[in-house]
Formats: sequence, structure tokens, C-alpha cells
Amino acid sequence: MEDLPPTLSVRSASAAQTRALGAAIAAELRAGDVVLLSGELGAGKTTLVKGVVEALGGGDCVTSPTFTLCHLYPTDPPVAHVDCWRMQRLGELADLGLDEVLDDGAVAIVEWGEVAAPLYGEEALVVVLAPLAGAKGERRVSLAAGGSSWPDRLRALGASLCRHGLEVDFTGAT
Ligand SMILES: Nc1ncnc2c1ncn2[C@@H]1O[C@H](COP(=O)(O)OP(=O)(O)OP(=O)(O)O)[C@@H](O)[C@H]1O
Ligand SMILES: [Mg+2]
Repeated sequence: MEDLPPTLSVRSASAAQTRALGAAIAAELRAGDVVLLSGELGAGKTTLVKGVVEALGGGDCVTSPTFTLCHLYPTDPPVAHVDCWRMQRLGELADLGLDEVLDDGAVAIVEWGEVAAPLYGEEALVVVLAPLAGAKGERRVSLAAGGSSWPDRLRALGASLCRHGLEVDFTGAT
């Protein structure tokens, strides 16, 4: 039987916890990584990116790239924050020059990441944020490891989140 990709499921009770999750993801990121974020309007995608950029030394400077499509933050490693919401076709994503930025050592975090999945889905960390019905401010966040380099990092991430008091479920291939 084929192994299922490892998945981590985390409950975030607040925007602050989603930022903390972003910071924990940041600790596992390596140059060239792509993180695809999915979730409805207001699910918390940009909030998570704020946590990533702040943890990588960028301070509290993230704004949504909905109209500009991409912001590049001079963090360590640099973060390319992409928003696919307004993209009409996949070519627009390719036109951003993301591959060059990734080759130069940046990481990319993409809102409406399902749009980018045909280009980057195979190796990406896929994060889905879903508001919990009837629970104001709560989100169920699932993280699925693409490629071969993520499973170990996802385990480390789960352990780190547990240490920080977040409620974590881990399912995955052994
Ligand atoms: N648990 C939570 N996680 C994330 N955000 C939360 C949470 N609870 C409440 N919020 C609030 O929900 C809003 C999320 O907005 P955010 O811009 O991050 O969403 P988004 O998914 O990027 O939206 P869009 O699709 O418009 O880009 C913020 O105002 C944030 O404070
Ligand atoms: Mg957003």
C-alpha cells in the first residue's frame, strides 16, 4: 500500500495563535521552499504570513499583496509573499519570476495556493485554514507535506507546536 503523505492538524484559537503557527513554520523553512495557503476570504492566510515574516526578522510589516500580486521581504531567508486571488491564468504566476527568486535562496508563501498547485504542489507544504463552525475566532489548520523533505520537518513542527500549547493531531506515514 502506498504511504499517505504526513499531515498535521492544528487548532488555532486566535489570530495570535495563527501567527505563532507561522513562526513555527518559519523555523523549519529552507531556501527554495514553497508554502501554499488555502482557505476562504478572511480565513487567516495573511495572518499566518505575518507570523512567518516576523519570525524571520522582518518585523510587523506584512500587508496583503492582493493588488501587487507579490511582496518580497528582505528577511533571512527572503520571503516572497504571493496572492493568486486576482490571477486570471497560471501564466501570470510564472511571469512573476518566482523560480528565479527561489533559486536565489528565497522561500515563497502563496495565498490561494491551490491556483499555484499545478506549478509547485508536488514539493510544497500545503496549509489549509478553515474556520470552525460555531466557534468564533477558531480555525482548524491542516498541513500536508509534499515531497520528501517535509515529513521530518512536519514532525519537528508538530513537537514545537505541542511545546507551545497548541492542540495538534499528527497522522502520517511511518
Ligand atoms: N484563529 C485565527 N486565525 C487567523 N485569523 C483570525 C483568527 N481568529 C480571528 N482572526 C481574524 O481573522 C482575520 C483574518 O484575516 P486575514 O487577512 O489573515 O485572512 P486571509 O485569509 O488572508 O483573507 P483574504 O482571503 O482576504 O486574503 C483577521 O482579522 C484576524 O485577526
Ligand atoms: Mg490575505
